[in-house]
Amino acid sequence: MSDIDELVATVRGSAKYRRICADIVRGVGERELAKGRRLKEAIKATKKKLHQIGGAYLECGVDYAAWLGELRAVSGSKGDFRRTCARIMGCHSSTKERLEILDTFYATVLADLPPIRSVLDLACGLNPLAIPWMGLPDGAAYYAYDVYEDMVGFLDGFTQLVPVRGEARACDVLQSCPMPRVDLALVLKSIPCLEQIDRPATAQLLDRIDASHLLISFPIHSLGGWDKGMPANYEARFRELAAGKGGSIRRFAFATELAFLVSK
Ligand SMILES: C[S@@+](CC[C@H](N)C(=O)[O-])C[C@H]1O[C@@H](n2cnc3c(N)ncnc32)[C@H](O)[C@@H]1O
Repeated sequence: MSDIDELVATVRGSAKYRRICADIVRGVGERELAKGRRLKEAIKATKKKLHQIGGAYLECGVDYAAWLGELRAVSGSKGDFRRTCARIMGCHSSTKERLEILDTFYATVLADLPPIRSVLDLACGLNPLAIPWMGLPDGAAYYAYDVYEDMVGFLDGFTQLVPVRGEARACDVLQSCPMPRVDLALVLKSIPCLEQIDRPATAQLLDRIDASHLLISFPIHSLGGWDKGMPANYEARFRELAAGKGGSIRRFAFATELAFLVSK
């Protein structure tokens, strides 16, 4: 067995990383081996990186089957359904941070746009549970990609409870995900994670997105807490990535998130 095959098998053999798609384990593992690390060190470094870009965000014990059951049970009541979505979003620290601005986030950012009939949510985490706040027309297509196979299975089930045509997929967005043409693409708070894996590939990903409107956002706090320079640094990075790409840019500063809407 080659080192990379052994690395992928070992990492995915541990309970914590079993449900992360093989593509990203291989991609991160290859980069670690290319640094000249021995296999054992590369396995350790791969697990650490996978934790930083994904596992660290999952806060409470995840029970996707139970969550889906709870959502199904309240799907007849708009208020209870939203409350249940919000409670579940509280289990992913990224969507949790958006809860306090959720009532205004999509309403503000999407206010001046024509009806959004298709959405591509890249590195989505549990953000598709915010669909009830997005004001999408019935039958809109919603493509949601993340690296966790069990999470996307849950999201697939979730989209059957809301009036969208959902397609959730476990893939590494820096490698080989389908890129359908959409009205709106979301890259919410994930550029810092993606750049930890591969900075040039993150810029290339943004170039591959085929959307009339691209919403890119950044966190204002780090996972560990407040960081004074973060918004300015992230804004500078966004401006670098957007430079020379055309389109109009609108900036939205929310209490917990800095967002940029790029319209082509
Ligand atoms: C900071 S969270 C953002 C989640 C969501 N976009 C939001 O704003 O609530 C980063 C997410 O990116 C996912 N992720 C990280 N690297 C990825 C990759 N290469 N491909 C797909 N998803 C990835 C993680 O699993 C995690 O759910």
